[in-house]
Amino acid sequence: MQETLRIATDQLQIAADFLRTGKTVAFPTETVYGLGADALNAQAVEKIFLAKGRPSDNPLIVHIASIAQLDEIASDISFLAKRLIERFWPGPLTIVVRRKSQVPNIVTAGLDTVAVRMPEHATARELIRLANRPIVAPSANCSGRPSATTWESVLADLDGRIDAIVCGGPTRIGLESTVVDATGTEPIILRHGAITQEMIASACGEVASGSSELQVRSPGTRHRHYQPQAKVQLVEDLFELNPSSQRCGMIGLSEAEHRDLIETRLKNRFPQATVRLCASQEEYASELFEFFRHCDRLGLDRIYCQRVPHLGLGRAIMDRLQRAAE
Ligand code: TXA
Ligand code: MG
Repeated sequence: MQETLRIATDQLQIAADFLRTGKTVAFPTETVYGLGADALNAQAVEKIFLAKGRPSDNPLIVHIASIAQLDEIASDISFLAKRLIERFWPGPLTIVVRRKSQVPNIVTAGLDTVAVRMPEHATARELIRLANRPIVAPSANCSGRPSATTWESVLADLDGRIDAIVCGGPTRIGLESTVVDATGTEPIILRHGAITQEMIASACGEVASGSSELQVRSPGTRHRHYQPQAKVQLVEDLFELNPSSQRCGMIGLSEAEHRDLIETRLKNRFPQATVRLCASQEEYASELFEFFRHCDRLGLDRIYCQRVPHLGLGRAIMDRLQRAAE
């Protein structure tokens, strides 16, 4: 065990110095909290795999703060990648491109590609700028658990296992970035996120997302993911439920204007349930992982999650829900 230093967002130079000297630092981004290390220092990167208990065949995303940093790690940037960069960076889009040989194998799990993202979050970008090197950052949680969207949740998983954490606010989006393979002429979505398939299609034309291809190209999708201790079950309608245990969690959607009324009705029907209704898909996305963790802290054994349509951000929500329910 080691002491994990808590760093305020106006003390980023300390966090940057940690990164420059091979230490691990968790920090907020607009998607989820990331666990950072110097991408060009294999020993520093190894600490991340150890802290998270992450399988070594799951490659990491390299975070950058400028296009100059992209040139340090990537080669043969395709026309397609340039288009995506122009349209969506900085932001919650990770682009898979051909790698340069100076990127350590441990970062890419031996692949000939590297996943790169320029976050839009001011703290994240300033930290990377001050560190003055590309920073790998997987989600800052124990491998297999829901990603952390608050610094408290990061510490619930990783306190004493990482060198420091930048304690910012809760993350805005709440689900991990969209991952797109841009090594060919057509974008292939490997993981859905807040940059939706529709947005990518409107920027680039055709989009592919095929599950067998996805498994081959994105090794991380093979592993257990996003799971709370409670058992997750997907349902169409929370009112139709006949829960095996009354002490359960329930999360779903409801129009803002009817939310209070529907919440009251649900609570009358299921008095021992912990209920969370969200007024939009955006809110559902940003609350989901924290709700999972809240239910675990309460020791609930089942969480019922309302399905959403497979459209826009709904694809990312359904992807996380389905994997949590496996
Ligand atoms: O929003 C995010 O992306 C967050 C924040 C911290 O930026 N990071 C994150 O990292 O979610 P992580 O490690 O939890 O997820 C990385 C995903 C995995 O599914 C991994 O398999 C995929 O990106 N990936 C990484 N490198 C890849 C590559 N070269 N080719 C294909 N997929 C890759
Ligand atoms: Mg992750």
